[in-house]
Amino acid sequence: MGLLDGKVVFITGGGRGQGRAHAVVSAREGADIVFVDTTRPFATVPYPHTTAEDMAETVQQVEALDRRVLSIEADVRDQKALDAAVASGIAEFGKIDCLIANAGIWTLSSVQDMTDETWQEMLDINITGVFHAVRAVVPHMIERQQGSIVLTSSTNGIEGGANYSHYAAAKFAVVGFMKSIALELGQYGIRANTVNPGAILTGMTNNQPAYDMFAGHPGGTYEDLLSGGHSFTALKGVGFMDPEVIANGALFLNSALAATVTGVSLPIDAGHLAMAGINLDPK
Ligand SMILES: NC(=O)c1ccc[n+]([C@@H]2O[C@H](COP(=O)([O-])OP(=O)(O)OC[C@H]3O[C@@H](n4cnc5c(N)ncnc54)[C@H](O)[C@@H]3O)[C@@H](O)[C@H]2O)c1
Repeated sequence: MGLLDGKVVFITGGGRGQGRAHAVVSAREGADIVFVDTTRPFATVPYPHTTAEDMAETVQQVEALDRRVLSIEADVRDQKALDAAVASGIAEFGKIDCLIANAGIWTLSSVQDMTDETWQEMLDINITGVFHAVRAVVPHMIERQQGSIVLTSSTNGIEGGANYSHYAAAKFAVVGFMKSIALELGQYGIRANTVNPGAILTGMTNNQPAYDMFAGHPGGTYEDLLSGGHSFTALKGVGFMDPEVIANGALFLNSALAATVTGVSLPIDAGHLAMAGINLDPK
């Protein structure tokens, strides 16, 4: 018996990282999976983008669990593409029970040097893309008078982040959006919550700009990243965490265990938000 037996979970950004973990953990618990991702590079993102091979690997890992999976190339900035993906999912599997709006990007810029393009691409993907995913599934969920929506925010949806004000602005917006739709959609039996990941080791963080940020200087290394990750948490032995820890949180929120949980933000951050914060560049 799995926690999601017979359910269908729709995931954005399912091609790698946390999105793939959401697919695999949901499938392990009995769900069939529909996921979207894009293999096109982003104008403002310096780290490598997701590939067709990445998307195929998610499919393979879900199928290895004997669950059905539909992989669709779609950009969350494109409402029509998401509407079509949801329609394909319903045509294939009959319904969508849960949405995990996980797709996102992370870029670095001081506020004074931020270009309009860097600001706008962030907001277009990390908050408008979340809105598009919700708008794509909600009519179907209202019709069925049930559904669970999990939006991926961040610890930066609760605290600020120096040199990524655009990211924090979008992730705070995700929390405000979730709290509002939880109020609106409760009358239809639909729940909405956020997961707020701490430091997770994925393509978004395992790259040179992140090494440099954690080292505090250019030329940072993977080891700098990992040791910086330990300063980011309160729990013994925990630094950068595996994507599965976030998938386990979303699994709880999508399951019957959380049948009366709506409108909440769940930090999964090994105690990061319980700490008072640190000055990375003390003078
Ligand atoms: N990694 C971390 O430390 C961390 C911390 C807090 C929150 N998050 C959030 O977790 C989520 C997942 O990130 P991850 O760590 O797995 O990074 P990742 O880069 O490995 O995965 C993100 C996925 O989203 C997809 N995506 C991005 N923009 C898209 C678009 N316009 N259309 C369709 N797909 C798109 C990417 O192609 C990629 O497959 C993001 O929302 C991120 O902001 C990550």
